[in-house]
Amino acid sequence: MLPLKRAVLSWILAVNCFMLLSLGDSTRVAQEEVDIMEQIATTMGATHWKFNGESCQIEAVRVTTDLPSWFETDVVCNCSIGNDTACHIVAITLKGINLPGVLPPELVKLPYIQKVDFAYNYLSGSIPTEWASTQLNSISVLVNRLSGVIPKELGNITSLTYINLEGNRFSGIIPDELGKLINLKALILSSNQLEGELPVSLSGLVNLADFRISDNNLSGPIPDFIEKWKQLTKL
Ligand SMILES: *[C@@H]1O[C@H](CO)[C@@H](O)[C@H](O)[C@H]1NC(C)=O
Ligand SMILES: *[C@@H]1O[C@H](CO)[C@@H](O)[C@H](O)[C@H]1NC(C)=O
Ligand SMILES: *[C@@H]1O[C@H](CO)[C@@H](O)[C@H](O)[C@H]1NC(C)=O
Ligand SMILES: *[C@@H]1O[C@H](CO)[C@@H](O)[C@H](O)[C@H]1NC(C)=O
Repeated sequence: MLPLKRAVLSWILAVNCFMLLSLGDSTRVAQEEVDIMEQIATTMGATHWKFNGESCQIEAVRVTTDLPSWFETDVVCNCSIGNDTACHIVAITLKGINLPGVLPPELVKLPYIQKVDFAYNYLSGSIPTEWASTQLNSISVLVNRLSGVIPKELGNITSLTYINLEGNRFSGIIPDELGKLINLKALILSSNQLEGELPVSLSGLVNLADFRISDNNLSGPIPDFIEKWKQLTKL
């Protein structure tokens, strides 16, 4: 008897990229960044990746058919950042396309990357400690299969204003080092398996406006220091 072969349907998705600036004839994304972008897509489990460095557009990424209607794939470039004439990748959105891989350590090789949104995929593993040396200001990995502890190195990315780790399998305690992220406006950790008490160091996050920790296994009372979060509008 022949083994039953499950047909996996897939299709090539062609997408337009949102261009912030029009690219002139002489400007384009540095080839090095185009290559790194391909490594990133591969690490995250994308196949048939095609990214056009002339136009800063994702031309193809192969994905399964059962996509939600709100899936989003986008690379944003900025041609007036940096000390050269090339355009540089500043943001990547690969959202709701069922990526089965891991978070890409290679992100650190994009010198001007500011924002990543990898929400609603099947990414596993943890947050690469390499990211500590980026200047990211926004990280969303909302609803994936990430696990392990939240790396303390996240506390080194002091440019961060937004972190969303909701809906994963992160465990262990919330690291003290997150208290170093003084620019943070949103810290969303809900629906994980975090435990222990909230670290007192978080009292330093005076710009925090959105703090969410429900659906974890945290213990202890709501600490007094929450009073110091003058900007808080959502808890
Ligand atoms: C591109 O980067 C420059 C330098 O950081 C910044 O001033 C500018 O606002 C950015 N352009 C866009 C469209 O974000
Ligand atoms: C331009 O930036 C790159 C990387 O940020 C750096 O290695 C290089 O020394 C800079 N060049 C100048 C002339 O500042
Ligand atoms: C994080 O910051 C600490 C102290 O600020 C430093 O000692 C450490 O080397 C940094 N780690 C990384 C991975 O950059
Ligand atoms: C939650 O924490 C308590 C005390 O630390 C522990 O006994 C319990 O097993 C934990 N529950 C889960 C689901 O991890």
